[in-house]
Amino acid sequence: MSKTICITNQKGGVGKTTTTYALGLGFRTKGFKVLIIDLDPQGNLSFSVGAETDESLTIYEVLKGDCSAEEAIQHTPIIDIIPSNIILSGVDLEFTHTGREFLLKEALLNVQNKYDYIIIDTPPSLNILTINAFTVSDKIIIPMIADIFSLQGITQLYETIDKVRRYCNPSIIIEGILLTRYNKRAILSNEIKGTAEMIARELNTMVFDTHIRSSISIQEAQTKQENLYYYAPRNSAVTDYMKFVEELLAIGI
Ligand SMILES: Nc1ncnc2c1ncn2[C@@H]1O[C@H](COP(=O)(O)OP(=O)(O)OP(=O)(O)O)[C@@H](O)[C@H]1O
Ligand SMILES: [Mg+2]
Repeated sequence: MSKTICITNQKGGVGKTTTTYALGLGFRTKGFKVLIIDLDPQGNLSFSVGAETDESLTIYEVLKGDCSAEEAIQHTPIIDIIPSNIILSGVDLEFTHTGREFLLKEALLNVQNKYDYIIIDTPPSLNILTINAFTVSDKIIIPMIADIFSLQGITQLYETIDKVRRYCNPSIIIEGILLTRYNKRAILSNEIKGTAEMIARELNTMVFDTHIRSSISIQEAQTKQENLYYYAPRNSAVTDYMKFVEELLAIGI
């Protein structure tokens, strides 16, 4: 049975796209069949894996019902992806009909049996795209930078997830908070860790044992559209992401 994981935080630049990409490649390295979905009009995930987004079918056409999810999947050399592009930014105004929260869930029904993991990257906002991601997902992972501003907005995120749980997806679970761009030596990082643990308790979840350290190789690999694990296998952030994959598998995600 395929598992669908949503990587989310409405705060920008906290490592959602990087985590989706690293987890997708990490699970794939472990031999699982993985599909990643770019649900962000910025298209950063699509870029990172070298997907074509100008002429191809994207998640927009899938949500609109113009094509099937299967038709929009691109089999790039590093991973299977349903890409996105900027046209997706209009959906909040365009999709106003009843049931619009379930568009992604319905679209993925036919591809779920082909993959072990489907991982969804969400935009830095709490809009209909994010709600579609929550509605189809089994688990949520919240990446959070170890700085004081990333703690803001967590309450709204929780309220949105809670609404989705009540109306659209009663079985959704917040698996945990992942600290990203972590600097062990910074006093602030340790303070944030304490605060993140407090927030996690309020959200009925936990902070993952693994923290992702800061490293420039992450950005380099994404810019060069390469597989992170081949690009810099001994890099600190890369080994952290690999450890994170092990942690998730150990808790049975
Ligand atoms: N562990 C890390 N070390 C160094 N740089 C990182 C790390 N993780 C992510 N980055 C870089 O930080 C930037 C933001 O990361 P990313 O795009 O993953 O965040 P995001 O939450 O998806 O942002 P957005 O909200 O805009 O979609 C990127 O340039 C990425 O390469
Ligand atoms: Mg992103």
